[in-house]
Amino acid sequence: MKTNTNTRCENYREFFTKEYLMGPNSLRLLDEMLEKYPLKEGGRVMDLGCGMGITSLFLVKEAEVNVFATDLWIPAEQNAENFRKWGVEDRIIPIHADARNLPYAHGYFDAIVSIDAFHYFAAKKGVLEERVLPFLKKDGVLVVAMPGLKEELNAEQEEALLEWFEGNRDELDTFHSRKWWMNLFDNSDDYEVVMDFDLDCFDEAWNDWFESGHEYGIKDKGYFDRGLGEYLSFIGIVIRKTH
Ligand SMILES: C[S@@+](CC[C@H](N)C(=O)[O-])C[C@H]1O[C@@H](n2cnc3c(N)ncnc32)[C@H](O)[C@@H]1O
Repeated sequence: MKTNTNTRCENYREFFTKEYLMGPNSLRLLDEMLEKYPLKEGGRVMDLGCGMGITSLFLVKEAEVNVFATDLWIPAEQNAENFRKWGVEDRIIPIHADARNLPYAHGYFDAIVSIDAFHYFAAKKGVLEERVLPFLKKDGVLVVAMPGLKEELNAEQEEALLEWFEGNRDELDTFHSRKWWMNLFDNSDDYEVVMDFDLDCFDEAWNDWFESGHEYGIKDKGYFDRGLGEYLSFIGIVIRKTH
């Protein structure tokens, strides 16, 4: 088992709970991404699919950037209240928006970070190019960590995953291998893939989720005990906009 050596996120243990986690521990995933690809201090960053805002907090504190915390399912008011409580309201702006129709100026951001969210809206040709990258400056970077597959599934594995997703085929269709994503992001003059890899913190991120006490975490643990985790990976991708 590979483990992530970075421990900055250990200082955020108070957020490893069912109140803040929405899946495998996003702070571990972000911590590892920033370790492998540090962001420039002082930049303007969109946290795309920020959920409850804990990754936005981590970005402000550890990467020393300013953040637009952007999410669809969590109301901006709820995140505004959290940012006020955490004393970072001057450095994080909560925005309620759909990633497929973002309300920002083109060429506005130094970086877009998306942790455990990108697969929900970007597993289709054109979303990256038309909906996400336009908001980056030239040489701006997109930093993604998302759940996916070690390899595309055979029929038997597909059945197992479909059961996990309670028969929701649309959700199943968001899970893909790194190779699949690299095919989707192939051949462009407008951007380059700077790095792609499977994250080392897979086990730790899932274990934090199982232990968070969240009812879905407990349910997911049951599936992992039956071997489902063998098919899965966490995929890290960094893309630089070249124009
Ligand atoms: C599993 S949660 C992860 C949240 C957070 N990044 C974290 O890891 O704690 C997935 C998030 O993706 C967001 N999301 C899904 N589809 C989206 C879309 N089309 N536009 C913006 N956000 C989206 C949801 O609102 C949700 O908060």
